[in-house]
Amino acid sequence: MTCTLLSNLHELGMPLLKITGLRAKVDGFDGEILRGIDLEVNLGEVVALMGPNGSGKSTLGHVLMGRPGYEVLEGQATLDGIDLLALPVYQRARAGLFLAHQYPVEVPGVPLDRALLRAVKSRESGKIPVHSSKDGGASKRFDDDQLAGCNLDWIDANLKEELKSVGLDGQFVSRPLNVDLSGGEKKRTETAQIGILRPKLTVLDEIDSGLDVDALVSVSERLVEATCRWGMAALVITHFSRLLTYLIPNRVYVMANGQIVDCGGPDLARSLEGSGYGEYGSRVN
Ligand SMILES: Nc1ncnc2c1ncn2[C@@H]1O[C@H](COP(=O)(O)OP(=O)(O)O)[C@@H](O)[C@H]1O
Ligand SMILES: [Mg+2]
Repeated sequence: MTCTLLSNLHELGMPLLKITGLRAKVDGFDGEILRGIDLEVNLGEVVALMGPNGSGKSTLGHVLMGRPGYEVLEGQATLDGIDLLALPVYQRARAGLFLAHQYPVEVPGVPLDRALLRAVKSRESGKIPVHSSKDGGASKRFDDDQLAGCNLDWIDANLKEELKSVGLDGQFVSRPLNVDLSGGEKKRTETAQIGILRPKLTVLDEIDSGLDVDALVSVSERLVEATCRWGMAALVITHFSRLLTYLIPNRVYVMANGQIVDCGGPDLARSLEGSGYGEYGSRVN
């Protein structure tokens, strides 16, 4: 599938996500986990982030999203020119950031559709400008008319379609968020949330873990469609090149011991699957 989306940002040559010299640690622990990260993602791009266990990939997602318990020591992260690190979590979400967690949290008593209704209304009332896109507006983020009509019926109808596209039936619409879902069902409902919320940038933290082959294909196809329909960009954290054969990355970064130690094209992911990460130990400062 080819993408023809362009944005003002692209025309200005600015990346959608720009991370510069980011250093961070966990509160109460001495050692730095992120030790000077530089990374860029452009509108509509798929960028893979790979690396050994414990190298700091999930921490980067948490720090970008603003999870409490992490301290930023130095550096910057902007989304669409907005200083993410200065914002509380809900404003980062309003700015267009979504984190699909490696381990989605179970929230008893909160049905998926009601959580999404609150999220959409909160996000859209934040007056963050809608995406500029050249697909006739069919895929831009929700406009005022849609927001006025955004009630539980609207969410349920759209959510059912999203769930169907990743192979889940309608019962998941009102199931409590992630409660008693299998690993794969959690990852698929996260993907359905993306279809409703339409973020500008999604950090996908091991979206492929727990997915069977059919689910991997349908989730990947939905994500590829998102990059083309509303120019969603994705930072894809994964260990396996299989996901990246469907969701083909523009770039692959390798992180080891809190630093970016390599960057290349899609071939890099394939070669890592053969060689492992052993050679990167010596490249870390
Ligand atoms: N809240 C925390 N408390 C203590 N150590 C943490 C915390 N979060 C992450 N770490 C440590 O930071 C390192 C990086 O973890 P993580 O970002 O989860 O790695 P990855 O996702 O690349 O496997 C690990 O050594 C992990 O134990
Ligand atoms: Mg992780």
